[in-house]
Amino acid sequence: MRLILLGAPGSGKGSQAGPLTSKFGILQISTGDMLREARANGTEMGKLAASFMDGGQLVPDEVVIGIVEERLKNPDCANGFILDGFPRTLVQAAALDEALHRLGIAIDRVVEIRVDDEVILPRITGRRSCPQCKHPYHIQFGPPKKDLVCDTCNVELVHRADDTEAAVVKRLEAYHQMTAPLVEYYEKQGKLLVVDGVGKVPEVTKRILEVLS
Ligand code: AP5
Repeated sequence: MRLILLGAPGSGKGSQAGPLTSKFGILQISTGDMLREARANGTEMGKLAASFMDGGQLVPDEVVIGIVEERLKNPDCANGFILDGFPRTLVQAAALDEALHRLGIAIDRVVEIRVDDEVILPRITGRRSCPQCKHPYHIQFGPPKKDLVCDTCNVELVHRADDTEAAVVKRLEAYHQMTAPLVEYYEKQGKLLVVDGVGKVPEVTKRILEVLS
């Protein structure tokens, strides 16, 4: 299974990728996580990415396309994968199609997790993430068992630098302008499935599994 999770910031892509990877035994490839890791490692690419991410802007296509193309060549992608946060522009979508074509494979399904903008802000400002396993908790909607500590890794949760109100506004603008056109792109390819992203995380997972079956 090769799947794309499409949706606005805070729509629940990361939250849904976890149960779906377990269910299908495939990998999650999150460009946001890859860029944050590059930043934490202090690489030149990470520093460049940070300058865009903190302001809520998209990182330039050529940077992101390069890291995803490299990642997809890894043998651990052979059983399938879930792309979370990529593609985010029409240029990235076309580059992905070409890269997969060269590898002799294609995307099977694209699931758009649809939520209204007003749901997003409280979700994102209340998010706390595990720096190790990347699981997204929420101080109100999905808190860890022990205050601000990951249930699995037992390390302190972090608040992402771009999870501010000002950055969320910019991220939503970028989503509507640059990423929303992908809905039509994948609809034309006959691959788009739309799921209502409002409700408890397991309810949304159930909806996704239903549309995929
Ligand atoms: P990225 O890390 O991909 O962030 P994003 O797309 O903005 O998405 P989020 O991680 O904010 O949200 P999500 O949909 O995963 O929601 P989550 O499950 O965590 O990208 C960050 C930045 O990196 C970008 O702005 C850009 O600069 C750069 N970048 C990344 N990829 C790029 C690309 N391809 N091209 C260019 N630039 C790129 O949920 C959010 C919160 O809500 C959590 O607290 C969660 O617990 C809670 N929650 C989830 N589901 C529910 C629910 N059903 N009910 C209640 N609460 C819920």
